[in-house]
Amino acid sequence: MRDRPSYLSPAGDRHFDGLADKFSESLYGAFRGELRLALLDRLLPEMLELHGQPVLEVGGGLGQLAGWLVERGHAVTLTEPSAEMLDRARSRLEGQPLTCLQASLQALPSLAPGPWPLITCHAVLEWMGEPRAALATLAGLLAPGGQLSLMVFNRDALRLSNVIKGNLEKALADRLEGQGRRRRLTPMSPLTHDQVVTWAAENGLAVTAVAGVRVFLDYLRCAPEEAADRQALLELEWRYCRVDPHWRLGRYLLYTLTRPEEPAS
Ligand SMILES: C[S@@+](CC[C@H](N)C(=O)[O-])C[C@H]1O[C@@H](n2cnc3c(N)ncnc32)[C@H](O)[C@@H]1O
Repeated sequence: MRDRPSYLSPAGDRHFDGLADKFSESLYGAFRGELRLALLDRLLPEMLELHGQPVLEVGGGLGQLAGWLVERGHAVTLTEPSAEMLDRARSRLEGQPLTCLQASLQALPSLAPGPWPLITCHAVLEWMGEPRAALATLAGLLAPGGQLSLMVFNRDALRLSNVIKGNLEKALADRLEGQGRRRRLTPMSPLTHDQVVTWAAENGLAVTAVAGVRVFLDYLRCAPEEAADRQALLELEWRYCRVDPHWRLGRYLLYTLTRPEEPAS
């Protein structure tokens, strides 16, 4: 048996210890992060039924989504295995009413069993060795009628962006995933839409909404610099993020997965 590399957790996941600065700068310190947050701000109220219900935020990273939910009156339990990321989230959300818990997704059935009416898990499954098992765990934490807001890194978009960059041999060999090594931010388990749909069905979850996040930005020859161009791109992303075929090539795929209500006995 091969030894597990030291940068992975015992479960084979990439916890973000040692990556907080790089992640913060390369995503949220850049226009792509701003665009993601602006799109989520518009998409989540349309894709989810939000009425101030308690939320379990899984792999909450630096706390942006937790903050957004707290502002809307939700009681948020932010969970995150990386002490470094959780410390950043705590500082960002200081004084806000929320619970922070250092825990991996795998530990949640014992540490935060719920069942939860709303779970959010954005950009986490692609950093895990066993994303299919992770989705089953999340499904087990959902209350009947509960909603899971799931966002995953899209393998098909990763292929297209590699081809556009000229990484033809890599694309031809379908060697798209990263290794989770050191400070690299290419995820080890990018997912396809078919995988999410199949795994949702395996766990009795209905796909009630889907969108692509960043359906254009990553394919531009020159990223927009001027405020007016950035605004125009946001409007384009917004207009086409739920339109076939554009959503399918979003850098991230955003889903609402719903556990059906139990039939009244
Ligand atoms: C790309 S970041 C996303 C952070 C945040 N959800 C966001 O969208 O900005 C991935 C996060 O998943 C966390 N993570 C990795 N393995 C995990 C696991 N087994 N359980 C929960 N979170 C995990 C990492 O520590 C990291 O904070």
